[in-house]
Amino acid sequence: MLTVAELPRPTPGPGQILVRVAASAVNPVDLEVRSGSHAENVGHGFPMVLGWDLSGVVEECGTGVDRFAAGDRVVAMSAQMATGVGTHAQYVALDADLAAKAPRTAELRDAAALPLAGLTAHQALEALAPQDGGTLLVTGATGAVGGFAVQLAVARGLKVLAYGRPGDADRLHALGAHEAYSDERPVPPGAADSLLETAGLPGSIAGVRDGGNAVSIVPTAPPVAERGIDVRMSFVEQDGERLAQLSALVDEGVLTLRVAETFPLAEVGEAHRRLAAGGSRGKLLVSPWD
Ligand SMILES: NC(=O)c1ccc[n+]([C@@H]2O[C@H](COP(=O)([O-])OP(=O)(O)OC[C@H]3O[C@@H](n4cnc5c(N)ncnc54)[C@H](OP(=O)(O)O)[C@@H]3O)[C@@H](O)[C@H]2O)c1
Repeated sequence: MLTVAELPRPTPGPGQILVRVAASAVNPVDLEVRSGSHAENVGHGFPMVLGWDLSGVVEECGTGVDRFAAGDRVVAMSAQMATGVGTHAQYVALDADLAAKAPRTAELRDAAALPLAGLTAHQALEALAPQDGGTLLVTGATGAVGGFAVQLAVARGLKVLAYGRPGDADRLHALGAHEAYSDERPVPPGAADSLLETAGLPGSIAGVRDGGNAVSIVPTAPPVAERGIDVRMSFVEQDGERLAQLSALVDEGVLTLRVAETFPLAEVGEAHRRLAAGGSRGKLLVSPWD
């Protein structure tokens, strides 16, 4: 059940900032937490405030915070599941280390599309450590994480093979992908040195050459190692410094913030339904003040 409730405005503790939230994003993990499928990992019991991403303006700083001041435009990722600090709220207090200045060139609300998906893509690529000039296959490449991964990999000089839905080819090329694949145009076997798996597709590892490597972010459907391919999982961690780098990449035009729709907080349930239905081709945001 999702309901809107009145809670006291939080007070920032030492090292924390209080953010007046402009928007937060809905991520697949929110659907999983709401449905109870992470019950054993949820550090704080229900009821709880959902949401990992936020963009907003610093309202107040706790003692010891010198990186931010009231009025700064910021983005942040809160590890909601572990800490119970959700971002679908008008005000959120969290550690300043988790935040970064928001991209200057983006609408503040749209910047809520960046933190979790951007950090996941960046950290998964680091775990993969693709060789310069190599060929990378990204599945789920029109998704939130996959789209950022394509853009980051292209910026690193990799040749990117992007796997999406039939009909996604133009979107994939617009992200910078060199080749677009789908169920209707399968990846040639062994075409890639590395695989970044964000869609949990059975058989996607066939696109990796013998002795290549693969990183998945989908624990429910990890690739099964074969032909000497190294397979690893990557799990996102909050990181304000890395987020600042991603924010700068938005300003440089390397990363694009793709927002499909923004829902008022009272309609967060509809945002969950839309995400679960698939096909949104951009982040679904929640605005707590509409
Ligand atoms: N390990 C971690 O730390 C971590 C962090 C973030 C996310 N995740 C997980 O990673 C996954 C992706 O997250 P996300 O936020 O990027 O989700 P998303 O925005 O919904 O992206 C998933 C993409 O995969 C596509 N897809 C699914 N099945 C496909 C298929 N058979 N053929 C082609 N494309 C297919 C989806 O297309 P449609 O929309 O058309 O279905 C969508 O574009 C989720 O399972 C999420 O739980 C893990």
